[in-house]
Amino acid sequence: MAKTSMNVAILISGRGSNMVALAKAIAAPDYPARVVGVVSDNADAGGLSLAEELGISAMALPRADYDSKAAHEAAIQKQLEAWDAEIVCLAGYMRLFSAQFIENWPARFINIHPSLLPKFKGLNTHQRVLDAGDPEHGSTVHYVTAGMDEGPVIAQARIEVQAGDTVDTLTDRVLVEEHKLYPMALRKLIDAFLAKQ
Ligand code: GAR
Repeated sequence: MAKTSMNVAILISGRGSNMVALAKAIAAPDYPARVVGVVSDNADAGGLSLAEELGISAMALPRADYDSKAAHEAAIQKQLEAWDAEIVCLAGYMRLFSAQFIENWPARFINIHPSLLPKFKGLNTHQRVLDAGDPEHGSTVHYVTAGMDEGPVIAQARIEVQAGDTVDTLTDRVLVEEHKLYPMALRKLIDAFLAKQ
């Protein structure tokens, strides 16, 4: 029988608002996915308890518990396999993965980044948009590749930068867009996978 749903794992480092947006969208009966678990590299991440409140398995795997980056990534990979994850979504996960890890998830590993990539890779994107005087800003969902914030774009959401905008106002307005963009972009990816089988 044709597969109608895919298992999604979400990796976070902090408050997890994009994780919650994904989980709530995926919970709709017509969304072709299931969230199998949430991993945080930070035991204090607010998103861990939010995931538990949603009835999702949530696990902290802090980098400091492992001797090397490779051992940390191996522990994450083992957990993702234990959950039978098929797609991995980074949602505010603030650590880079090695090329070896990324190769485990060809075309199944995606990230959301708060800028209109290829502009403003890396940190402090809202401040950098203001400093550059850009008239527009936004967010990008893209495939994860070995280069930071470099993989092919899946979808973008745009906002207009207004006079008087600050880092806080841009953060808030970009987040509102991210919470719609990420579920939409993930669905596009899953629909393409399911159509190909
Ligand atoms: C989001 O704005 C996301 O785009 C950004 O971190 C925030 C996480 O918020 N990600 C990056 O900067 C990755 N380069 P959240 O924890 O509330 O989802």
